Amino acid sequence: MKFLLSLAAFVLAFSSFSIASSRSQRAHGAVVFNESGCRHCHSIGNVGGHKGPDLSGVGRRKSKAAMRQQIVYGSKVMPAFGDDLEPGDLKDLIAYLKSCRQKPAKTQPVSIPN
Ligand code: HEC
Repeated sequence: MKFLLSLAAFVLAFSSFSIASSRSQRAHGAVVFNESGCRHCHSIGNVGGHKGPDLSGVGRRKSKAAMRQQIVYGSKVMPAFGDDLEPGDLKDLIAYLKSCRQKPAKTQPVSIPN
């Protein structure tokens, strides 16, 4: 019985630890996003620039691998960040972006008076 209890305590401790760590990963990823200059070109939640696409819902349309590719190598318009980001920072940044899953705003149907 004692063994079962300690096993249960262990499982509980372990699972809450893993939830906490991924939440802190995403929180750290948001800091990396702000501090790396991403917001200069990208908005998330209506805050940021518009040189690049709004990333509020990027987690819905891009895989982690595609984000990594874009961030590490950049594109014609977007600078490459592969040399600037520590591997841990890059991982957290992608975890944060993957959690940005806002649905695109639905446009209200417009009725045209005749
Ligand atoms: C100088 C402006 C600029 C900066 C700075 C910039 N980006 Fe971009 N980014 C763009 C543009 C423009 C695109 C559109 C696709 C393209 O042309 O490559 C893009 C595309 C993306 C995409 C793909 C979006 C999609 O919907 O397909 C992601 C993800 C992304 N950027 C993440 C980042 C991150 C993370 C940072 C910071 C480390 C960053 N960007 C910094 C300009 C920028």
